[in-house]
Amino acid sequence: MAQLDKIAEGVYRISTTAGPPGQGGGFSFNQFLIKDEKSILIHTGAVQQFKGVTESISTVLDIKQLTYIFISHFESDECGAICNFLGANANLIPVCGAITARQLQGFGLHGSPQIVKPGDELNLGKHKLSFVSYPSEMHLWEGLLAYDATDKILFSSDLFVARGGEGAVKKANRAEVLKIEARSIPSDEGRTKCQAAIDTLDIHLVAVGHGPTLDLRP
Ligand SMILES: [Fe+2]
Ligand SMILES: [Fe+2]
Repeated sequence: MAQLDKIAEGVYRISTTAGPPGQGGGFSFNQFLIKDEKSILIHTGAVQQFKGVTESISTVLDIKQLTYIFISHFESDECGAICNFLGANANLIPVCGAITARQLQGFGLHGSPQIVKPGDELNLGKHKLSFVSYPSEMHLWEGLLAYDATDKILFSSDLFVARGGEGAVKKANRAEVLKIEARSIPSDEGRTKCQAAIDTLDIHLVAVGHGPTLDLRP
């Protein structure tokens, strides 16, 4: 079973760590579950993680109660297990940007994902997600990050990745964390645009796709 930790009311971090912590390993692969009137899983994890991830989800809700899966971009840790999830719940709706949707359709993984754009909102009940453009697809095409305005959580996927997987949440310095490095988004234009969008958000927690969730509150 994957590690499961509650990081806010109704919000859970599910984590699988590859390699021993403290020995150059400890790189974690995280999914996030928001339990609400319409529940959502953020990232599927890879196929190899499916069993452990779903065992952890089952301690919070039945997989058949999941309404959405958010896919930041088309990569195995973000959407590799999409077919396994659809096998367990055929009504699940993938939510993603247009480029990711094109991949899901082109690979025959899903015929009609729900396409969202930066600035769009997705109402879950108590939680409301909005989306931020994130140049992460091949050729630096547009992927998306999700932001939960209710608990002020940025689900940052591969941005602001942290090593060290022991604790689920760790305190971090806002100014240091929220600065996008050139190696993360090599395009100056894309990086500047993404940075400007993130700078407009009131962020308490950065739920990174890899590493501990970063708590920016003083
Ligand atoms: Fe990725
Ligand atoms: Fe990732």
